[in-house]
Amino acid sequence: MKISHVTLKNWRNFTRVDVELQERQFIVGPNASGKSNLLDAFRFLRDIANPRGGGLQKAIEDRGGLSKIRCLSARRDPKVEIAISIADSVHDSAKWRYGIGITQETRGHRQPVLSYEKVWDSAGEPIIDRPDNADREDKERLKQTFLEQTNSNQRFRDIAHYLAKTTYLHLVPQLLRYADSFQGRLLKDDPFGQGFLVKVAETSTKSRKSRLSRIEKVIQTAVPKLSQIDFERDGITGRPHLKALCSHWRPHAGWQREDQFSDGTLRLIGFLWSIMESDSLLLLEEPELSLHTGVVRLLSPLIYRVQSQRKRQILISTHSPELLSDGGIDGSEVLVLLPGNEGTEVKVAKDIAAIRSSLEAGFSAGEVVIPQTRPKDINQLGLAFMNGG
Ligand SMILES: Nc1ncnc2c1ncn2[C@@H]1O[C@H](COP(=O)(O)OP(=O)(O)OP(=O)(O)O)[C@@H](O)[C@H]1O
Ligand SMILES: [Mg+2]
Repeated sequence: MKISHVTLKNWRNFTRVDVELQERQFIVGPNASGKSNLLDAFRFLRDIANPRGGGLQKAIEDRGGLSKIRCLSARRDPKVEIAISIADSVHDSAKWRYGIGITQETRGHRQPVLSYEKVWDSAGEPIIDRPDNADREDKERLKQTFLEQTNSNQRFRDIAHYLAKTTYLHLVPQLLRYADSFQGRLLKDDPFGQGFLVKVAETSTKSRKSRLSRIEKVIQTAVPKLSQIDFERDGITGRPHLKALCSHWRPHAGWQREDQFSDGTLRLIGFLWSIMESDSLLLLEEPELSLHTGVVRLLSPLIYRVQSQRKRQILISTHSPELLSDGGIDGSEVLVLLPGNEGTEVKVAKDIAAIRSSLEAGFSAGEVVIPQTRPKDINQLGLAFMNGG
């Protein structure tokens, strides 16, 4: 399954988003333009659908309440709305369309409630259309979506399962290395750190071996002194670890555990693992961080190749011209975030005339798109800082 279209209303710094999505979709824009916020709309749906204690109320609460989610520029129509189309491939017509509107109780605790929840089938016929009679009789029901209720979503359970498997990867090497010192929660659904190793540990031995051996090949090129990559559990604590054979000036190579890997090595392993991991939606935050530009250039073609075997849809936020340097990247595969007074606008790169003509002239997306997202007064930055005191 793939998400072929998304519509957002009043979601964080967007008043309105209405775009088609590709199987490999890059998201570019200046700092604070909403790349992570856009990815968060899909994490939000995942959190609602999460069978392990998810749900609408929790998903909103985890984000600090509806007032944090609702766009500050929202005026007349303060509902937050999210709608997605789901298809077998982004080029097929939608099999399902799922949409919710969220508002607040008008009195009492002013808890978030659904203003609607709708599911349409492939013929465009509504199979769920809430509020229904039962909701009108008992308004409490509108505090929960059918997405999170197994006994109400038989007819579209595939959507719930698909959304619940969404992965968000923003690997922070320090969190992975020193997970024991950070007494934080282990977030398996959002691997910032140790949660990533837990995921690796929970994978069947056969898949784990096969993925690690493919990762090993890439790592050997990017970090030639590392050879074998393996998984082990600590004999005493039972904690999961990755290890690699590292050749050094001593005559024999020695094993290193992940706390000795470099930032780039850890992030590259996380990236490679996640693109092979499953066929669900993957949200990747700035995979270029800590990596040499030569390696970054290889990531997009790698995604393309892995996708041709295992069709995982991947949405990728980035600031990197190198990540977009591959000539195979199409103008429809890049979303450009354009901040404005009324919230950020999201456009497909090929729909921006100046970008389209440059792409047609043979420039790469990296050469054309990233300069378009550069802040207008960037050249004044140094001056402004020096004059600031
Ligand atoms: N409810 C809201 N209404 C309006 N703006 C919001 C809302 N919630 C968050 N924002 C704004 O969104 C911006 C952050 O967006 P986000 O983190 O998605 O940016 P980004 O493009 O990922 O940036 P970076 O490249 O720095 O990671 C902040 O400026 C924040 O004030
Ligand atoms: Mg961000």
